[in-house]
Amino acid sequence: MSTLRTPFVGGNWKMNTNAAEGYSLIDSIQKQMQGNGVDVAVFPPFPYLMSIGNAIQNQTVLGAQDLWHSDNGAFTGEVSTDMLKDCGVKAVLTGHSERRHVIGESDGLVNQKTKRALETGFIAVLCIGEQLEEREAGQTDAVNERQIRAGLDGVSESQLESVVIAYEPVWAIGTGKTATPEDAQDAHAKIRELIGQMYSPAAASAIRIIYGGSMKPGNAPELMAMPDIDGGLIGGASLKAEDFCGIISAAQGSLVS
Ligand code: 13P
Repeated sequence: MSTLRTPFVGGNWKMNTNAAEGYSLIDSIQKQMQGNGVDVAVFPPFPYLMSIGNAIQNQTVLGAQDLWHSDNGAFTGEVSTDMLKDCGVKAVLTGHSERRHVIGESDGLVNQKTKRALETGFIAVLCIGEQLEEREAGQTDAVNERQIRAGLDGVSESQLESVVIAYEPVWAIGTGKTATPEDAQDAHAKIRELIGQMYSPAAASAIRIIYGGSMKPGNAPELMAMPDIDGGLIGGASLKAEDFCGIISAAQGSLVS
């Protein structure tokens, strides 16, 4: 891994935990975490943002799993960026595959949310990745390119500094099937090349591209040893403090490898 890019490890809790479990999880993470030089974020469910935010005592960033892209108003069930700020949120996920493929979010909506996040001062973790049929049809790079071009449409090079791209092949999410380090590296390298074409070589070498999809403490070191993999977005393993902290340690280890 390039020492120029600070590794980023995010824990996406998805629709898991209750208040007590979430508190106990963040408490254990903070006690066990050894991640100097790594940017760590947790993305708890909306109802627990405030309490988890209050429990954070170190540099861990509080993140949200989604946002709505308008000012406060008549959007029943949605959560605005003002509300997220009020809760101490600093980072948001946009375009997570479960929102694209289960909820039905379009590339256009993901773009509106990404721009809103950046315009209002958040770190945007833009998630992209192909589905199994797309991979089998040899469309991985084309899907990634389409989702990145659409997701970042209208995003300036200076705004890009607050973007982290999470490559999460959909077939690897929650399945126990991880992309091989070589396959993940290949996708990440192509994503970085694309950012170079869309912006500049400097932007390409600065942007963090993290991997998500059944990352565990056992496979994290070899994934993170790849030159274009700058961390991870973790689902299942982020719900166990020991596993999540093991992955953070792997990210830290990649700094000196
Ligand atoms: P898993 O780590 O459970 O595969 O989930 C990955 C993910 O979707 C993180 O956003």
